[in-house]
Amino acid sequence: MSQKVTRRQFLNYSLMGVGSFMVAGMVLPMGRFAVDPLFQSDAEGSMIQTSISADDITEEPTQVDFSFIQQDGWYESEVTDFAWVYRDGDEIIALSPVCKHLGCTVSWATDDANPERFYCPCHNGLYEKNGNNVPGTPPTGPLDQYEVGVSDGYLTIGQIFPNELV
Ligand code: FES
Repeated sequence: MSQKVTRRQFLNYSLMGVGSFMVAGMVLPMGRFAVDPLFQSDAEGSMIQTSISADDITEEPTQVDFSFIQQDGWYESEVTDFAWVYRDGDEIIALSPVCKHLGCTVSWATDDANPERFYCPCHNGLYEKNGNNVPGTPPTGPLDQYEVGVSDGYLTIGQIFPNELV
């Protein structure tokens, strides 16, 4: 038994096939954009190895440099940054150096009148050792914290998050 395909049926099948192909071409990229953050979470959540041994971290905040590869579209670049790192009992604390007033860089114990505080030279901002902003100075919030860890004896730095020490 042979089945003949009429010209009308052939045209219908052809148009349905082409239409399906075009719809898939539009919908599939949208789906990819919708779930893209799921694929990126691993890379963004990874810890960055530093060159400082965990045993060398003292109670005195110290500048610890780190770098990572930043992907911006097709452009890849190496970004360098640093954190103020110190030990508080068994805990290692890493604070962002970015001032919460207008984004200048804070430093530890560089103001002679405040030897045990972070100081921002731009507008005389002050922070306590735990990152809490000193009332009456321009910063409006505490310094952010970095997630920290230890890998093979060396400090690792992770995501930045709002200060949980204050
Ligand atoms: S930017 Fe730090 S006090 Fe203004």
